[in-house]
Amino acid sequence: MQLERPEIIDLLKFHIEADCADVLDGMPVNHFAKAEPTSPEHATPKHSTLETKGPAALASLQEGATPLTPSVTRAVIPAQINPAAPQNSAADDGATLAKTATTLDELAAALENFEGCGLKKTAKSTVFSDGVSSARIMIVGEAPGRDEDRTGKPFVGRSGQLLDDMMATIGLSRASNLYIANVIPWRPPGNRAPSVDELEICKPFIMRQIELIAPEIIVLVGGTSAKTLLNTETGITRLRGKWQTLEIGGRDILALPFFHPAYVLRRPETKIDVWADLCALKQKLDAGS
Ligand code: URA
Repeated sequence: MQLERPEIIDLLKFHIEADCADVLDGMPVNHFAKAEPTSPEHATPKHSTLETKGPAALASLQEGATPLTPSVTRAVIPAQINPAAPQNSAADDGATLAKTATTLDELAAALENFEGCGLKKTAKSTVFSDGVSSARIMIVGEAPGRDEDRTGKPFVGRSGQLLDDMMATIGLSRASNLYIANVIPWRPPGNRAPSVDELEICKPFIMRQIELIAPEIIVLVGGTSAKTLLNTETGITRLRGKWQTLEIGGRDILALPFFHPAYVLRRPETKIDVWADLCALKQKLDAGS
């Protein structure tokens, strides 16, 4: 379908509003599957998304549909979307690579050299960590967003500012006594949720990072971080505020799941729960010191 100039402008505005900053295809790509040879007559034209999805998106806007917000644009791409996908050999490669790193610098270098996760191709930075590596507390979030990808540091955007404010209420800061990382070190395009495959591929690295930091307590920020590291399907609403134990590198580490600050920004009524969880964290820290 041929679009007129005003329609193209509307469509571009729609994509900007929906935080679609990256040019992608309409379907997730399995970069690990062997490419099928395509005959020229069956080849898909590049950037077909604009033509096939654009008018529908435009029509829904013209019908007065609510424009997409960034939270609506997040979509989980489950591993089983392609049943023919091979089991994650990239995760095995990652596990081998992560295990060989004996220092944080070696682990950061290993991640920089790792090509097994497709997210790296669209990200500007490998967001490894921020804070003090000797900290008693390690915060583990989900994945970098736009600001983190731009700066190369975790939690520097709006939700990071709230996280800093939350931690400051109990005397914790990344400048003196906190270490911060994410389960995924590369920004998922358009801030979508990481897929099951991507989480599996990146998990050995964050596990090794925890092992090398050897914190007393891990704060699991958000459902993705909590579910991935605790190996559970239980949601964050049930998990938050309940102490867990993570066995990593032969050590038991206490872990406390928290609501993600991005969620707290959207649902300010959850601040009361966050305050309770901060108090529980402070109590545990005081008891251990
Ligand atoms: N959200 C996260 O979970 N991690 C970041 O680094 C930024 C936002």
